[in-house]
Amino acid sequence: MTNEKKMVWTKKDLLGLEYLSREEIEHILYTAASFKEVTTRQIKKVPALRGKTVVNLFYEPSTRTRISFELAAKRLSADVINVGVESSSVRKGETLIDTGKNIEALKIDIIVVRHDCSGAPNILARSVKASVVNAGDGWHEHPTQALLDMFTLKSKLGRIEGLNVSIIGDIAHSRVARSNIWGLTKLGAKVTVCAPKTLIPEGIEKMGVKVTNDLDEAIREADAINVLRMQLERDVSGVFPTKIDFFKQYGISEERLKICKKNIVVMHPGPINRGVEMSSAVADGQNSVILEQVTNGIAVRMAVLYLVAHAKKG
Ligand code: CP
Repeated sequence: MTNEKKMVWTKKDLLGLEYLSREEIEHILYTAASFKEVTTRQIKKVPALRGKTVVNLFYEPSTRTRISFELAAKRLSADVINVGVESSSVRKGETLIDTGKNIEALKIDIIVVRHDCSGAPNILARSVKASVVNAGDGWHEHPTQALLDMFTLKSKLGRIEGLNVSIIGDIAHSRVARSNIWGLTKLGAKVTVCAPKTLIPEGIEKMGVKVTNDLDEAIREADAINVLRMQLERDVSGVFPTKIDFFKQYGISEERLKICKKNIVVMHPGPINRGVEMSSAVADGQNSVILEQVTNGIAVRMAVLYLVAHAKKG
């Protein structure tokens, strides 16, 4: 990796990997590696964000991302406030910008936001002086998920450059896919996306990826696969006949893995629909790094919170 130690971080927000250079992405991964060491200590805490306050503002459900950001902030000694939309004045019709400005009036330093609307974190970042970190917005980006995916890949395979990485499943509705494509291609991986035609967005190849509808083609030469969640809570009627049909054609089963490289790394951002995009045997099998991804999320989010909180004015 290049310039890891020399980089001066200048971005107050993390809105997506589209907006970061290769050097910036590498710098986050490098910083995360030092925080990973902190997470293995008996006392898993450093004073890097002492005196700072982080608000987790989640307009959509989350288990991994919300808990991980909370843990990351606490391990950096920040104060943390979790705002659930159900119990906030958003239910009374308050706009995102008004909510953001009111949070800022309470002297908050970082707002971590998850929103069902693509671009919501960008709007918020333009409206407040506090740092804004995107925890997933609509179908747009989920940058910290892609960063923890890349961190996990690098930990397992030693590099990102030159790896064959296939992203499989519901590409059309996936912010995880978009952030992974931005990040992996910037770091020199060869990315293939694979799904039925109905789940491949038009023009995706312009992002520098190979597109296929043939699962065997996508996985045969892959060093790693990232299997996406079928977003059953959104209206997916019409994109495939039944869950069983989807699993037969695009699901990752032990049988399917037999044509892959022996040490293929199997990732999934979670939550998993077992028996739809992946069998339980694969999810819990020896190639799976799914729970390592979750663990690595803490160090990656510590790095992101630390960097945006200490950003120098560019
Ligand atoms: N991967 C992910 O974003 O999971 P959560 O929705 O549980 O945060």
